[in-house]
Amino acid sequence: MMKHWPLFLISLLVWACNNAPETPIANTEKLSSLPQDDHSYANLKQIHTKHLHLDLEVDFKAQTIYGIARHEMQNNGADTAIFDLKGLMIQKVTLGKKGHEKETDFTIGPMDKDSIIGQALLVDVDAKTTDINIYYQTTGASAALDWLDTTLTSSKTKPFLYTQGQAILTRTWIPLQDSPSNRLTYSADVKVPTDLLALMSARNPTKLNASGMYHFEMPYAIPSYLIALAVGDIGFKDLGTGCGVYAEKELLKSCAKEFEDLPQMMNVANELYGKYRWERYDVLVLPYSFPFGGMENPMLTFANPTLLTGDKSLVSVLAHELAHSWSGNLVTNHSWSDLWLNEGTTVYFEQRIMEALSGKEVADIMALIEFDELQDALKEIAASKNPEDSKLHLELAGRDPDLALSDVAYVKGAFFFKTLEQKVGRAALDAFLKGYFAHFAFQTIDAETFTAYLEANLLRPQSISFNYKQWIYDKGLPPNCLELKAPRLEQMKGFAKQYNAGGNPFKPTYRYKWVRKNGKRKKQKIDLTIRYQDRIIQEWQIFIRNLNTNTSVARMRQLDQALHFSSSQNSEVLKEWFVLAAQTSYALEIKKPLTDFLVKVGRRKYLMPIYEALQQNPKTKDLAKQIFEKAQENYHSVSRSSVAALLK
Ligand code: BES
Ligand code: ZN
Repeated sequence: MMKHWPLFLISLLVWACNNAPETPIANTEKLSSLPQDDHSYANLKQIHTKHLHLDLEVDFKAQTIYGIARHEMQNNGADTAIFDLKGLMIQKVTLGKKGHEKETDFTIGPMDKDSIIGQALLVDVDAKTTDINIYYQTTGASAALDWLDTTLTSSKTKPFLYTQGQAILTRTWIPLQDSPSNRLTYSADVKVPTDLLALMSARNPTKLNASGMYHFEMPYAIPSYLIALAVGDIGFKDLGTGCGVYAEKELLKSCAKEFEDLPQMMNVANELYGKYRWERYDVLVLPYSFPFGGMENPMLTFANPTLLTGDKSLVSVLAHELAHSWSGNLVTNHSWSDLWLNEGTTVYFEQRIMEALSGKEVADIMALIEFDELQDALKEIAASKNPEDSKLHLELAGRDPDLALSDVAYVKGAFFFKTLEQKVGRAALDAFLKGYFAHFAFQTIDAETFTAYLEANLLRPQSISFNYKQWIYDKGLPPNCLELKAPRLEQMKGFAKQYNAGGNPFKPTYRYKWVRKNGKRKKQKIDLTIRYQDRIIQEWQIFIRNLNTNTSVARMRQLDQALHFSSSQNSEVLKEWFVLAAQTSYALEIKKPLTDFLVKVGRRKYLMPIYEALQQNPKTKDLAKQIFEKAQENYHSVSRSSVAALLK
């Protein structure tokens, strides 16, 4: 477009850009001029929490947290302070510093129509009020909380509790202004049973305290969805370079081995996009019910134990959560409409870490697997009642922000950056991203602010035009989307094609060749059989995905005998296999491993496609219901409600 412009105009523009100071956006004035969050009642412009102190007592017997949320507010002349809550019981509200408190009136508003955002808590204040203390307790409807019975832990002797805040669940265990557009520091005093360790997304202890009392400090301002707590029979192992791992004690050794590359990931990330800003990076491995692969709680990533494969094949999830320490935790989506700015940037960053660790071929294979999933997701979205959900920036008013959690935000988001990289060059994009993280550190970002910054600091200075509007505000994938190729995946597709056509590329295959040994000619046997362990899991994923969904049960069995998919140690492979097993009705023959997996693992990414496939096949529909009946009490509410909605 630019080339048709008169030369003097172009030079003027380039001059203006080179001399303009870095675009000053997203300072506090700008923030308050951004629209309010569709998913929070909070009147942040009038009054917002700057620091939150929590006094908590965790009662496992009553499965209840008794708490006081002490809010230190920035008050801009408000007469009411509005907080979010859902599934909480409020006992009283006081104003003033601890020890000098006065009870005050409060009102609780009605639940929203679809019970998505919960209720508003309105507290009467005057223009001078800065300290508001909310006395409360959690209930069975506190959806963030997962109280695990001893049987669901690996020790089988001690119970476990953890929270999941993102997207809008923090309000179900703490009454607060639950919008990512507000940042706060927090501290906490937490009382737990004396034989259990408490951890938070904060500076953490490494040892049990005989008193059962733990004090926490998070001195950096974070959005509320990153406040997290875990309590259990947990031990710690240092991995060096400011990294470590927490887990139930019997898992610690295998965690340390599986995650030994964390310090290296940290070095790569620091080099790429600037110094890590959160003091330490520790990972807590949770019980199997954890609904995600990982959750980037600052200073303490929460991780799913399915990552412990024994061969480091799923450590990219940790690369992802570590990357969030920049994209998401340092620079945070202003609202859930721009989750892609958290997740897309993070997937791009994750892939860069994996490329540094495992090389470009493997990184491309990983990216292509996700691209394959994106294409399925785009087809589904196009045929759904919300076809506009394939845009990066989403309209979510009145809708559950969880809907933003799709391959669009993650993979289309990552391919936005990969395509941009191809256009501007890696060095230029890296310099831009590094500057972006530094400029917006500890602030929030929305699509408009991001694109203004992109224009001013990358595109205009280099006179590059890039169709970012089409990427962000249009449906589907723009035609300039980067195309990746992976010959190894093509070969796996070839094997699937052979198998679909009745062949068997996995039958034992040998070749003989003559070699000379000690002056004699000898026949040597070369084993050409393709074995499971010779390929990486992404190759098997693509192989399984390309098998016919009407493969006969006998042919499924034959494959299973050759490659042992049903007893794979890798949850990604198991997921693909169980989906195909459901589609082909082979599931009825492998009920035991299938049921065991679904009863044990609560990661939603696996549960949803497997239950969906079981549900869609009339022969396995009842099996889905039976398994869910048994499994649901083991799931975190996030997964339980998603599967329940699917099976309804
Ligand atoms: N922050 C997300 C999980 C999340 C997003 C929870 C939105 C609730 C709402 C986390 O970083 C994540 O993306 N986890 C992925 C990891 C994967 C993409 C490597 C997961 O759990 O699958
Ligand atoms: Zn993420």
